[in-house]
Amino acid sequence: MELKFFPINVFRETPKVTFFDAGIDKSNGSDIVIHSGEATSPPNKQNEEQYYVHNHQIDHNLVLTGERKFILINPLWDEPHHVIFLNRSMGALEIPIGTYHRSISGKEGSIVLNQPKRDKFFDPAKEFVSQKLNKINLVNARKSPPVYWIYENNKIKRVSFNPLERKVKTLV
Ligand SMILES: [Fe+2]
Repeated sequence: MELKFFPINVFRETPKVTFFDAGIDKSNGSDIVIHSGEATSPPNKQNEEQYYVHNHQIDHNLVLTGERKFILINPLWDEPHHVIFLNRSMGALEIPIGTYHRSISGKEGSIVLNQPKRDKFFDPAKEFVSQKLNKINLVNARKSPPVYWIYENNKIKRVSFNPLERKVKTLV
């Protein structure tokens, strides 16, 4: 499964100043999620991981400051489990409809701009209800070895770890 990242367009970078266009075509929302320290969206409930899953919006998450780890679970994908160490340079991560997702910040916190594409049936009362992985195919997807996405040498790389060989294999 190839995830999509929408790059930002940096206009100008001078010492301590970064100025860029973060526009996403056809986005009709602009949501900010601030983690002001170690935090998880959505937070665990009774020690169980919670996830968001959307029916009427496609997310495009761009980290403005810090770094945020995203976990994506989608049993319909050939690779159903992804862990993305997202930073601003990677651009906006697309999260397709039907994909269970959560995000985690370290001690420094992070600020994310989400520019979703919402359809006419979007209802905030229904779209942001967190839920646990309550079906066997979701639990199995969560247990499957993840594909990791990292930023290295100015490139987005996907990496898998083979637990039998215990060595890192770079896929692209
Ligand atoms: Fe979302």
